[in-house]
Order: sequence, then structure tokens, then C-alpha cells
Amino acid sequence: MTDSDDRDRDDPDPDEDPIETNRAKWEEYAEIHPETEYYDVPGFVADDSRSTLQPPERELLGDLSGRSLVHLQCHIGLDTLSWARAGASVVGVDFATTAIETAREIRDEAGLTDDAEFVRCDVFDAPETLDREFDVVFASYGVLCWIPDVDRWAEAAASLCRPGGTVFLADFHPILDVFEWDLTLRDDRSYFREESIRYEEEGTYADWDASVENAAAYEWQHGLGEIVTAFARAGLRVDTLREYPIANFRAFDSMIECGKNRYRIDGDPLPLVYALAATADGVHAP
Ligand SMILES: C[S@@+](CC[C@H](N)C(=O)[O-])C[C@H]1O[C@@H](n2cnc3c(N)ncnc32)[C@H](O)[C@@H]1O
Repeated sequence: MTDSDDRDRDDPDPDEDPIETNRAKWEEYAEIHPETEYYDVPGFVADDSRSTLQPPERELLGDLSGRSLVHLQCHIGLDTLSWARAGASVVGVDFATTAIETAREIRDEAGLTDDAEFVRCDVFDAPETLDREFDVVFASYGVLCWIPDVDRWAEAAASLCRPGGTVFLADFHPILDVFEWDLTLRDDRSYFREESIRYEEEGTYADWDASVENAAAYEWQHGLGEIVTAFARAGLRVDTLREYPIANFRAFDSMIECGKNRYRIDGDPLPLVYALAATADGVHAP
């Protein structure tokens, strides 16, 4: 993810476990986010026609009523529940206990108790924990930057997908990370960077004024070539790779708001989001 320019730049801390550091951050974010205007949980609960799904997943996945869907890294579950409202039978997975507990509460308040299941587990443990295949494996917006090994992620996604089913990923474009908040090039980032970066930031993308105790995070950069290759190696046939000039948070200072949680750069000079839809061939990578 991108951030405001008050981020401290930092090297990895040898005493920290990067994944546990991230998990602590996401536990805290899951406490903060239900109260934010960005997520507007009361509005989502009150209005059963409300959906948080964005144009990329709507246009590439279409009507999923009657289909089974697993949502990887589902956070507090609003997208998962939006798919349930659209008629899919859904399971959301996240490694943050607070995220899963919050998702269950929202589900119950929204009257969707029988339509969605939420399971706490690491994405890499999901195939074994869930032990079933789905018509659609779905993940969106803030997914692969938390994952050190994209090959492993694609293998997990492929093994959750039934033969002939779809793996869908919409995420922030990896090019975003090389720019400063004012859209000049960062002098400390490369599109091709292999090592993780550690940073500390105040607030969250849903509320920059929120007070946060777990400010540290680790992220990994994965270029589009690496991502598409990981899908191919996992036995996934890429049907569509589409890039979009609209993101669902303010990644840069000068962005123009063009809808609820939708932002673009004047003139659309850069891709901000990409969406990848692939078909599982039924031969999962080892
Ligand atoms: C940016 S959020 C996804 C946002 C979601 N699209 C939304 O707006 O609600 C990323 C999620 O990935 C989860 N996550 C990160 N690493 C994970 C892992 N290894 N296994 C499972 N969940 C993970 C975090 O807990 C967090 O909820």
C-alpha cells in the first residue's frame, strides 16, 4: 500500500518477526475500521442493497448467485458479505482474530448469519483448514504486499479452486510504491526491489487521524511479471489482466475524489489498480 509522506523509512528490525508485526497491525486496524466513515458499517448493515464491490470485480466476475466463493484476506468482511448479498455462498478467511470476530458480528447484524462463514487462518493454511474447493477464489485491494512469496500464495489460491473455477485478484498496482505522496519518484524504492521494507505510520488508510499503537509494518514488492508468472506456475490460465486508473483510497495528495472511496489522478497518467482473472486447470502445483 501507499501512504502519506510522514512515513518513517526504516530497515528491517532483526528482533521482529515481519509476519507477526503485520498481524498485530491488522488486529488493531480491525478494531479501528468498523468505526470509520470509510467503511461505514452502520450504513452497510442498515441497507441490504448496499455493496462494497468495485467495478473491476463486478465486470470480470459478473453474476455469482448460486456459486461458492472463498475470500482470502477478507479483513472485516464487507466484500465477503457483499458477495453473499449478491447470492453467492461465501467463506471469508483472515489471519487476524479481531477481523474475523468483527466480520461475524457485522454478518449477524446484517441478517446474513446463514449466508456467510468466517474462518481465522493464515492464507497459506487455508487449503488444509477449509479442505474444500470453491467455484471462485477472490482477493482484493491490499493483498500481495503482505505476502513474501507470491508463488506460495498462487499455489494456495489454485488448490482452493475447483477445476474450471476462477481465481480473481484485484490489487493496487505495484508501480504505486515507487512514488512519493506528491507523485515525484522516491529515491529509496525500486519497482524491482526484492527485500521487504519496514515502515512506521500513524493512522490508517481508512482514518489518517486514528491513533495507532502498532505503527510498524513490513511490505513486499511484487511486479506484474512476477505475479502473472506465479499464477502460470500454479496451473492457473490467465484469462484477463486489466489495469485501471482509479483506486479506492487516496494514494497521492493531488488525487481527485470521483465517488465514495474512489480516487483518480487528473489525466489518468498511471495504472492504480490491476485485476487478474484466471481459470484453474485442475492440476495444482506441488
Ligand atoms: C488491506 S486488507 C484487505 C482489505 C479488504 N479488501 C477490505 O477493504 O476490507 C488486508 C488483509 O490481509 C490480511 N492478511 C495479511 N496477511 C495475511 C495472511 N498471511 N493470511 C491471512 N490474512 C492476511 C490482514 O489481516 C488484512 O485483513
